[in-house]
Amino acid sequence: MAASRHPWSSALVTGASSGIGQAFVELLVAAGVPTVAVARRADRLAGLAEGRPLVEPLVADLHDEAGRARVAARLADVERPIALLVNNAGFGATGSFASVPAAAQLEQIDLNCSALVSLTHAALAAPGPGDGRRWILNVSSVAGFVPSPRAAVYAATKAFVTSFSEALAEEVRSDAVRVCALCPGLTRSEFHARAAGYSERAGLGSDAPGWAWMTAEAVAEAGLRGVEAGRVVVVPGAVNRLLTGGAALLPRGARRRLAARVRRR
Ligand SMILES: NC(=O)c1ccc[n+]([C@@H]2O[C@H](COP(=O)([O-])OP(=O)(O)OC[C@H]3O[C@@H](n4cnc5c(N)ncnc54)[C@H](OP(=O)(O)O)[C@@H]3O)[C@@H](O)[C@H]2O)c1
Repeated sequence: MAASRHPWSSALVTGASSGIGQAFVELLVAAGVPTVAVARRADRLAGLAEGRPLVEPLVADLHDEAGRARVAARLADVERPIALLVNNAGFGATGSFASVPAAAQLEQIDLNCSALVSLTHAALAAPGPGDGRRWILNVSSVAGFVPSPRAAVYAATKAFVTSFSEALAEEVRSDAVRVCALCPGLTRSEFHARAAGYSERAGLGSDAPGWAWMTAEAVAEAGLRGVEAGRVVVVPGAVNRLLTGGAALLPRGARRRLAARVRRR
């Protein structure tokens, strides 16, 4: 990625200690964009910052009010304004609804929705860079397009993220702010191992063929390209575009039942 390609003077990426978030940070700093990297695991962030002076680690738990407040304060720092916010931190807990502990169901809503809304609000309330232009990239999922039995709460959080992002994109369009929802499909990262850890009957996606998977770097690259181009919804990868496009053509009930069959395997 060429250094002159991006319009951003700075960025902040949540969930930067692994997977797609780490790929965002690596791509941004390789393109010369100073980037704040947010996550809980300080050792991972230190590793990411090693040899990359443009990375600014910020350790914060986004489940925690104090953690969110630290990130919000960084977004509000007038001396070091943030042009691009990437709300990427998120997790899923797979398994039948009742087999996943209620706390984990609620934590998905807290991180995937509440933290994302809270940081988006902080970013838009901040003065931002001098030219007033700002970008917000929210990481959603193809799961947000279809109700997903055995990932019911996760898919609902991502439906929220996509809907929220689309509405906000229209609301702020005239304010030189661009908002984009990135909707990846199966992506190689730590996500699936974590998702399977909440129920003995989890394992979604683990048996999917190799061609169904994308790398975190390809997904992050598609997200950066999309938000820069002013696109509002980005589905990376031809397979994912085919699936979401096909699903949209089905009647609601058929779509739901098909998802249930896939999820039962
Ligand atoms: N992988 C997929 O197939 C896939 C598909 C569609 C969408 N997505 C979405 O892509 C995003 C990134 O996921 P990924 O695949 O890259 O998974 P990942 O490798 O598990 O990364 C998740 C990141 O979120 C951070 N995080 C988790 N809980 C946090 C908390 N309470 N506070 C702050 N940071 C927290 C983790 O860091 P710490 O643990 O260090 O805090 C980690 O850096 C998520 O929103 C996910 O829903 C993933």
